[in-house]
Amino acid sequence: MSDETLSNLLHENRRFEPTPEFAAQANVTAEAYDRAAGDREAFWAEAAERLDWGKKWDQVLDWSNPPFAKWFVGGEINASVNCVDRHVEAGRGDKVALHWVGEPADDTRDITYAQLKDEVSQAANALTELGVRKGDRVAIYMPMIPETVVTMLACARLGAPHTVVFGGFSSDALASRITDCGAEVVVTSDGGYRRGAPSALKPAVDEAVDKVNAAGEVTVRNVLVVQRTGQDVEWHEGRDVWWHDAVGGASTEHTAEMHDAEHPLYVMYTSGTTGKPKGILHTTGGYLVGTSYTHWAVFDLKPETDVYWCTADVGWVTGHSYMVYGPLANGATQVIYEGTPDSPHKGRWWEIIEKYGVTIFYTAPTAIRTFMKQGADIPAKFDLSSIRLLGSVGEPINPEAYMWYREHIGANKAPVVDTWWQTETGQILISPLPGVTAGKPGSAMTPLPGIEADVVDDEAHSVPNGSGGYLVLKEPWPAMLRTLWGDDQRFVDTYWSRWKGLYFAGDGAKKDEDGDLWVLGRVDDVMNVSGHRLSTTEIESALVSHPKVAEAAVVGAADDMTGQAVCAFVILRDDAGDGGADISEELRKHVAHEIGPIAKPRQVMVVPELPKTRSGKIMRRLLKDVAEGRDVGDVTTLADSSVMDLIKAREASKK
Ligand code: WT7
Repeated sequence: MSDETLSNLLHENRRFEPTPEFAAQANVTAEAYDRAAGDREAFWAEAAERLDWGKKWDQVLDWSNPPFAKWFVGGEINASVNCVDRHVEAGRGDKVALHWVGEPADDTRDITYAQLKDEVSQAANALTELGVRKGDRVAIYMPMIPETVVTMLACARLGAPHTVVFGGFSSDALASRITDCGAEVVVTSDGGYRRGAPSALKPAVDEAVDKVNAAGEVTVRNVLVVQRTGQDVEWHEGRDVWWHDAVGGASTEHTAEMHDAEHPLYVMYTSGTTGKPKGILHTTGGYLVGTSYTHWAVFDLKPETDVYWCTADVGWVTGHSYMVYGPLANGATQVIYEGTPDSPHKGRWWEIIEKYGVTIFYTAPTAIRTFMKQGADIPAKFDLSSIRLLGSVGEPINPEAYMWYREHIGANKAPVVDTWWQTETGQILISPLPGVTAGKPGSAMTPLPGIEADVVDDEAHSVPNGSGGYLVLKEPWPAMLRTLWGDDQRFVDTYWSRWKGLYFAGDGAKKDEDGDLWVLGRVDDVMNVSGHRLSTTEIESALVSHPKVAEAAVVGAADDMTGQAVCAFVILRDDAGDGGADISEELRKHVAHEIGPIAKPRQVMVVPELPKTRSGKIMRRLLKDVAEGRDVGDVTTLADSSVMDLIKAREASKK
């Protein structure tokens, strides 16, 4: 973000007070902040009472061995029972849990809590039959279909941590995740629908499993396959099992065991500053407390009357916390949509809101900006009057997008909650409370009750209002990651080593004159493209794995639609000549193949040299200047200052 944008942001003076009607009915009032400040652990213990426990905890928080936290120590709980069984037992079995909307427009299913309980039980029995035991890991590589949610809850029921891999990731990415967490069972489907056409998933699983099994470190025993599209699949007798046989034929009776509050619930891989993705570990009790409380408080959920819709894919943490665990633990009725926003027409999302009477809608700024570009006349064709609250997540929401969202989707009355959090934090940590906070367009505002966040300078001193620095968390919170799967040291190094006792989020932030927080984006080598986190190093490694590439540097350049865009600079090997006319496209495709289409660079520029300091570190800042079309900044620390002239000349000759 440029300095100019930044100072404009900080002079934002629009405020949107909650309406008296909204405030009067809100789940949470200002009192919660005081109560939490008075006794944080008591506050979270009270939030934990919202759930059903097999055995109550002896201690709310054990922080005797930081940064390794234990929450609700001694407690026993089952996440699946909390998300499903308890609603049925309370007589709400006929309530719709999922309004599933498939991509072929007439393909829909309403699933009640009672039906969900039956399916989850069947899946738990089927997985048990396939040898899955408590503690075993299960990889899930699926489209947005009900079976994905069912599988996650079945794993949680058994205490078998799942790792959901986004269906847009490559077979290599899938293989490395399977290997890293040692999953012996993979659940997938023949394919899914994408913009009206079936798109295969199983071939990527076959490739990944072959690769994993050939390497021999981990052996994938079974692949459980949902038939979604009916397309042809290659079948591995003895390894592959159809879902409709194994799950369809299983009993709907399954007695769930209670698990220790700190039993692993899932591993979610996310990009870090090095090439290797990090396996973020979330455990059961604290995670469910953190996600269910925040889902109820931030979205003001009224389970009896609200229809909630989070547009995230289940392959990301938002899909875990605010589509599966938070909402289902709260007994919400929600929409789950398989398709894309613009298929079969650009008003598809608004049509779904109208049809199901969606009241709470949670999406990402990149989507909002796309709708802005398409024009307000598209949503205007639909009845969106059911909407009473709007949420945003994934990247800073620029004030223009916030205003457009408020006006054209929220009819100038629904509060907008800009929610800041991360895969690591598990739950929303910074956000307005819709019945309390006077929201400012572009600001995530204040830490939620029970959360201690701050903005600090290089020496970890809290910065005064009106200044910027690094966003940190000062006290543990229930849904925090517990470690990185199999790598405690990297967990300590990545998040807790910069300053003693502080969690470093990797984001820059500012406090405005009122002390409200503005999250500005990553300060490390992590890019945010359409709300998806990508690592510069990971994409550089993918580029260098191409036989024609000698060296690569990747930067995230500001982009109007996607927030940031991936821009790559590569030096070719001597024997590759000029690489051929299609070299840029060839390398873009290579990255898509290695990591997944989301990582495909917007542009790949072949350059003769890369700007490096005398110690050999690539100065990405200068490349960012080029990619963003700015004058190149200070080059005095370059080992060879003529390098930038060469790069600029190359860039100019392309135009
Ligand atoms: C990074 C975390 C949280 C689920 C989706 C992404 C950025 C996220 C906001 C926001 C400004 C935000 C941060 C953060 N981010 N939400 N409301 N305002 N920035 O999860 O992939 O773990 O990415 O997304 O940079 O560190 P993730």
